Amino acid sequence: MKAIIPCAGLGTRFLPFTKAVPKELLPVVDTPVIHLIVEEALQAGIQSVVFITARGKSALEDYFDYAPELEFELGSKGKKDLLEQVQRIAGLVETIAVRQKKPLGLGHAVYCARHVVGEGPFAVILGDDLVDAKKSAIGQLIEVHNRTGKSVVALKEVPREDIHKFGIVSVGSHEGTTVEIEGVVEKPSAEKAPSNLAIVGRYVLNQSVMHALKDLEPHGSTGEIQLTDALEIEARTNGLVGCLIEGERFDAGNRLEFVKAVFAYAIKRPDVGEPLIEFLRERLKNL
Ligand code: G1P
Repeated sequence: MKAIIPCAGLGTRFLPFTKAVPKELLPVVDTPVIHLIVEEALQAGIQSVVFITARGKSALEDYFDYAPELEFELGSKGKKDLLEQVQRIAGLVETIAVRQKKPLGLGHAVYCARHVVGEGPFAVILGDDLVDAKKSAIGQLIEVHNRTGKSVVALKEVPREDIHKFGIVSVGSHEGTTVEIEGVVEKPSAEKAPSNLAIVGRYVLNQSVMHALKDLEPHGSTGEIQLTDALEIEARTNGLVGCLIEGERFDAGNRLEFVKAVFAYAIKRPDVGEPLIEFLRERLKNL
C-alpha cells in the first residue's frame, strides 16, 4: 500500500519561515514534521509515499534522499551515529513526487496521485495532524480496513468550539473502537453538526473513493474539490467505517498547537527531556 501525503500548501500561518522552507520541514526538536509522518507510515509497513507537492517544495525530496557530500563529511570525521541517522530514512522509504499544479483542495490533491497509487486501497496522511501514539495511527486504520474491507477514516472527539474546523461524521452502529459512518459534513457549525466526532487526517481508502473524486464538481465559493464529498458518497454506496484512534493529536498547522507538539515530544526525549522539564518548572514558578 502507498500513502499519499499532501504537501502543496503555502503554509502562510508559518510565515516568515515558510517564505523559503516548506512548512513540512518545521522541526520537532531536530526532526521535521514530515519525517515523523513518514515514520508513522513505515511503522505500519508502508514503504512507498507519494508527496503531492508544488513549486518550492523540492527540499522534501532531498530530505528523503541520500546526501553523498554530507555523508562523506560525517564519515571522514568519524561521526558514525549522525551518519547512520541521516542515511537511515533514505534507505527505508521510496518517495514519489507529484505536482498539484493548481490549489484546488484536498480532494483534488488526492486525485493527483491516481496514476501512482495502483489498483488497490491507498492511505492518505495529512501532515498538519501529528498523532503521538504507541501504535502507528495509520496502522490502526489499516487493521480496521483489513478486517472490514471498507474505506476507513480516523476519528477523535473534539470540543464543541473546534467542530467547525473538521469533517464531522454521523454514526450508526459501533463495535469497540470501530463505528459505521452514515454521513460526513465538512466543517459544520456546532449547532448543525451531527456529532462531535471529527475526521483527523488519516484515511485508508478503496479505489471507489478515487472514482468518486473524478466526478466531483468544484465547490462554488472556493473552487475546491473536497475529499469529504467523496467520503459522503462512499458512506452512502460502498460503506465507510470510522476508527476511534488511540494517541494524542496535535494540529501542527496551528502555531500554538505546533509549539505544544514540540514540547510534548521534547519532554519524552532522553537527550533534552529532563533539563527541559527543569527549565519549565523554574519558568512557571516565576510567572
Ligand atoms: C481537512 C479535511 C477535514 C478534516 C481535517 C483534519 O481540513 O477537509 O475534513 O477533518 O483536514 O485535519 P483542513 O484542515 O485541511 O481544512
